[in-house]
Amino acid sequence: MSRQTDDGALASRKIMSNADILSALQWRQSTKKFDSTRQISNEDFELILEAARLSPSSFGFEPWNLLVITDTDLLQAIRETAWGAEGKLPEASHFIVITAKTSAALEPHGEYLRHMLQGIRGYNAEEYADYIDNWFEPWARNDYGRFETPQLLHEWAARQAYIALANMMTVAALRGIDTCPIEGFNQGKVTKLLEQFAGLDTALDLPVVMLALGYRAEAARPKTRRPMSEIACKI
Ligand SMILES: Cc1cc2nc3c(=O)[nH]c(=O)nc-3n(C[C@H](O)[C@H](O)[C@H](O)COP(=O)(O)O)c2cc1C
Repeated sequence: MSRQTDDGALASRKIMSNADILSALQWRQSTKKFDSTRQISNEDFELILEAARLSPSSFGFEPWNLLVITDTDLLQAIRETAWGAEGKLPEASHFIVITAKTSAALEPHGEYLRHMLQGIRGYNAEEYADYIDNWFEPWARNDYGRFETPQLLHEWAARQAYIALANMMTVAALRGIDTCPIEGFNQGKVTKLLEQFAGLDTALDLPVVMLALGYRAEAARPKTRRPMSEIACKI
C-alpha cells in the first residue's frame, strides 16, 4: 500500500479524541448485575460482532467462532454450570459463547486452514502450500513449540479468541454498552451442552470464554490498577 493511500485513508477517517477513548475505558467495568429490562439495539449488536470479525489473529487464521445464545433453555442450563454468570444470566440482553479451534482443526493441511487460505484469502494451491509448509508449520513446530503436546495449538487459538473478546468489550464500551467476560463456568459441562443443544462438533471447536452484554443495574465501581511504572518500562 502506498504512503499516499495510507494518508488518504487516515485523513478521511474521524479520529476520536484521547479524552473520549479514555472516558470509555474508565467507564467500562465487568458488569456484575445487568438490567433485565434493557435490550441492545440490533444495530449496536451487529457492530459489536463486527469488532470480533475484524479482529487480528496470528497468521490470520481467525481461529474462533461466536455462538450467540438465544435459546432460553440453553441459557438456563449454562447458568447452572456457570457461577461466574450470576447477575448476567438471564438478566443480560445478549450472551455469547466464544469457541476456539481445536488442535485437530488447526492441523497443517487440514480442512479449516485450507478453507481460510484458499477459500477466504484466495490463495492458489502453490501459495497455500508455501504458507503452510514454509511459514506456519515451521513456526508452530520450531519457534513456538506448538506440537510438543496435543493441546498447544488449541491454547494458541484461545489466545486469538481473547483478542476478539477484548475488541468486542472495547467497542461496546465506546457505545455505552456494558459487558462482562466470563470464565467462571465448567468447560466440560458447557461443551456437552453445546454439543447437545447446538450440535457443536467438539473435535473442531471448544468453548473458551463467554461474554454477557447489556446495560448495568449497579453503580460504577472505582477501578484499581497497578501504576503504569509497574507495568511498562523502557529498555
Ligand atoms: C477472561 C476473563 C474472565 C472473567 N470471568 C469473570 C466471571 O466469570 N465472572 C465475573 O463476574 N467476572 C469475570 N471477569 C471480570 C474480572 O473479574 C474483571 O475484569 C476484573 O476484576 C477487573 O475489573 P473491571 O473489568 O471491572 O475493570 C473476567 C474477566 C476476564 C478478563
